[in-house]
Amino acid sequence: MYGPQQQQQHQESDGPTLKQGGSYIMEGHESADAKNVSIIFSPLQEEAGALAKMLKIFDEHRVNLLHIESRSSTRGPGYEFMVECDSKSANLSTAIEAIRKKSDYFNIISRDYKDNAAAVPWFPRRIRDLDRFANQILSYGAELDSDHPGFTDPTYRERRKYFADIAFNYKHGQPLPHVDYTEEEINTWKVVFNNLTKLYPTHACREHNHVFPLLIENCGYREDNIPQLEDVSNFLRDCTGFTLRPVAGLLSSRDFLAGLAFRVFHSTQYIRHPSKPLYTPEPDVCHELLGHAPLFADPSFAQFSQEIGLASLGAPDEFVEKLATCFWFTVEYGLCRQNGELKAYGAGLLSSFGELQYCLTDKPELREFEPIKTGEQKYPITQYQPVYFVSNSFEEAIQKMVQFANTIPRPFGVRYNAYTQSVEILDSKPQIADMLRNIHGEFEILQNAFKKL
Ligand SMILES: [Fe+2]
Repeated sequence: MYGPQQQQQHQESDGPTLKQGGSYIMEGHESADAKNVSIIFSPLQEEAGALAKMLKIFDEHRVNLLHIESRSSTRGPGYEFMVECDSKSANLSTAIEAIRKKSDYFNIISRDYKDNAAAVPWFPRRIRDLDRFANQILSYGAELDSDHPGFTDPTYRERRKYFADIAFNYKHGQPLPHVDYTEEEINTWKVVFNNLTKLYPTHACREHNHVFPLLIENCGYREDNIPQLEDVSNFLRDCTGFTLRPVAGLLSSRDFLAGLAFRVFHSTQYIRHPSKPLYTPEPDVCHELLGHAPLFADPSFAQFSQEIGLASLGAPDEFVEKLATCFWFTVEYGLCRQNGELKAYGAGLLSSFGELQYCLTDKPELREFEPIKTGEQKYPITQYQPVYFVSNSFEEAIQKMVQFANTIPRPFGVRYNAYTQSVEILDSKPQIADMLRNIHGEFEILQNAFKKL
């Protein structure tokens, strides 16, 4: 844990020593406890030592600071500062008010946003902020429910702990740990693999069937081999920039969706219990690699998934819930029309031998995918879905998601910068002017290329 004795690793280096530095210039240690309040502000008066004066306010109010960053402001001339405060400090709100009065630009981002009406819910700004989610899991992967097929199997539980520990200790940038699967685990995979691959040609969408042979060729998809997450992640990165990262347990909807904003998919690495190879009460490596991975290699689907993620950043709870429900009815259980036929593209369908057949019968009810309505739909999680939502194309679904995202109350826009793998908060005219210049540059490239044709 990050405590007061480890506060503030970097002192102010105000004035000319600061350089333009993308998404950060100075950096302290990552705080392990994300339940803190981050304040981003630009002082009203640009003068030497402005930050020192602002920091003095925290000192006077006895507010512990855990992390400080400063950077050239993207909103105008001068600098802006990000200060992470210990939310347990008694006078925090008075200090915040004092800082706000002396700031030109001011924003609060907090995990404890429910206690602070002005705060925007915390969200990761850089891809390695996703490391913080490891401490926020709702349940650890080794804890099984009493009705789980592996509940009374000590060997399976031990194995699950092994996988959970791998994921818990994983940090962004490391290779995804290689796992030697046991013969029993490979046998379970074989049953699932052989059953599902029989159905794909007739039941899966075009995109899934296009990518699947590439996964066989490049990532070791075979009946006698469970592919390694690292190989699949590298393949996806080459196709769409999507990557996988292991997850130790259940993430909140907010955190899980935030990963998608960075084209990062949190993936399990363990396999279901061998007693029931065609059933799993939770996602496992079969679900992730057979259901999800192929679609993340498709550019339109990757963009659709990222749009849901970007829409969730800093959104109020009720909207995150609606987005998670849209995710459920598309990325997990979506159907689409292709050449006049219904096909499955949701991973929950493409990884379930029973439901993949059921979903294309006349038993379930079909409705058009409309985020406003789809986001309200209730659903069961342990039985086949009574209702599926259908899209005509991923492009159409993207359009609808973007329109829905525009209805989410949020005082800023967000944009993913793939060069820096960071999320930019757009809330000022200079930033938007800067973006327009970039678009103009891209447009010229297109025009010039077009002239050559
Ligand atoms: Fe899933």
